[in-house]
Amino acid sequence: MIERTLVLLKPDAVQRSLVGEILTRFEKVGTKIVGMKMVWVNKEFSKLHYKDHVEKPFYKGLEAFIVQGPLIAVVLEGINAVETVRKLVGSTEPKKAAPGTIRGDYAHHSYEYADAKKIAIKNLIHASDTVENAKREVELWFKPEELHSYKTVHEFHVF
Ligand code: PPS
Repeated sequence: MIERTLVLLKPDAVQRSLVGEILTRFEKVGTKIVGMKMVWVNKEFSKLHYKDHVEKPFYKGLEAFIVQGPLIAVVLEGINAVETVRKLVGSTEPKKAAPGTIRGDYAHHSYEYADAKKIAIKNLIHASDTVENAKREVELWFKPEELHSYKTVHEFHVF
């Protein structure tokens, strides 16, 4: 039940100075940061991360977006962390994301606008979508020694 999941605060989140606000949302709900670093990825690494999307029409724009500046890679741990984090993040398309979710509160980009401009949808965050993908993505982005085990107050009050 205790899972780890990968979260990327994409270049738009870093450039809009939203890193602190977004991390606060995950901290407040009680998920634990067990790994974190700033990374400026290249096209080769983007293809590894987005391996299921490389052949899709939007991939070129997505790659251009993800390599255009540094991002913050985070591993969060918690009860059903994959599902919990996806719920906080909201729908992939910010225009449709509900108020109260991170994308709904901090972005309003749409697929229609992104596709017309031939750019990626600017949705601030990537979050692993399944437990299986979370495992693969955490292993891709972090070495075992970059992940840490420690106790938070939530383990006393919640777990
Ligand atoms: S799919 O096609 O149903 O598998 O798409 P999805 O699972 O939602 O993930 C697609 C990832 O590509 C990013 N992206 C876009 N998707 C669709 N259309 C456009 N124009 C587009 N631009 C970028 C989308 O944000 C997903 O990446 P992550 O990093 O997971 O958000």
